[in-house]
Amino acid sequence: MKLLDGKLCAESLVADISRQVAVHVAAGLRKPHMTVILVGNHAPSESYVKSKITTCSLSGFDSSLVRFPETVYEQELLAKIEEINLDPSTDGVIVQLPLPAHIDQQKVINSISPDKDIDGFHPTNFGRMALGQKAFRPATAYGICKLLQFYQVPVVGKHCVVIGRSNIVGKPISIMLSNDFDIGNATVTLTHIETPRELLLDETRRADIVIVAVGIPGFVTPDMVKEGVTLIDVGINRLESGKIVGDVAFDAVAPKCAWITPVPGGVGRMTVAALMINTLIAYQNNFNLV
Ligand code: GUN
Repeated sequence: MKLLDGKLCAESLVADISRQVAVHVAAGLRKPHMTVILVGNHAPSESYVKSKITTCSLSGFDSSLVRFPETVYEQELLAKIEEINLDPSTDGVIVQLPLPAHIDQQKVINSISPDKDIDGFHPTNFGRMALGQKAFRPATAYGICKLLQFYQVPVVGKHCVVIGRSNIVGKPISIMLSNDFDIGNATVTLTHIETPRELLLDETRRADIVIVAVGIPGFVTPDMVKEGVTLIDVGINRLESGKIVGDVAFDAVAPKCAWITPVPGGVGRMTVAALMINTLIAYQNNFNLV
């Protein structure tokens, strides 16, 4: 069993990004600039946002954090996004999800300029990605691809089973790995909450790569996978003890795996690194550098 070390891979990607930024800054350009919008103080969101801001600084980026209270009106949020869309000093913007229930999440995402949508959640980017066109790719899915590429895990033609069909992870990763992309060309099955248990087991037991994003600690058990599987655990679950665990019963399943991601230190780190790649691309687009 070998670890797909997201921390190591992310650090290498961020170091590469900071070298590219240094070249642009030495040529007289301003730094790339990411703006993060955070509504309320949902504990996991606070922690993700902190990690994004820290990684901006490690990448040589400027960042701004715009906070709104839980009670913010949707109109206020939309007005702020419109202001950022028009502000030439911001290259990329993210609205940390989830948003409070009184706000229409999709409406907020749709209001972000596709040119600044570094999360890749806007229908224009998602559609372009699905069609195999140039687009900002959703950060968690893109991060998983970069991790597989970094460790040269064979993907082309392999049978990949994705568990969970969320718009931010399961759906985009299933499309990206099946597309004829730089990292892709796999044979993909997307399973979800309505997949009958027997069918799920049929699929996962013959999968070369399993990607799980369901938010249930210990969901993937050793009987569900074959010997030599590559297991990508997207889950970040906080137990009552405070311990952070993924969706895989790691200690029991790891001995069967060729490759497995740890939690923490796996996919979470890669999500942030991929967001930095997207921000650098947005910046380079802004300055016609590519
Ligand atoms: N909440 C959980 N994951 C994500 C993500 O990738 N982007 C944003 N904006 N919010 C999230």
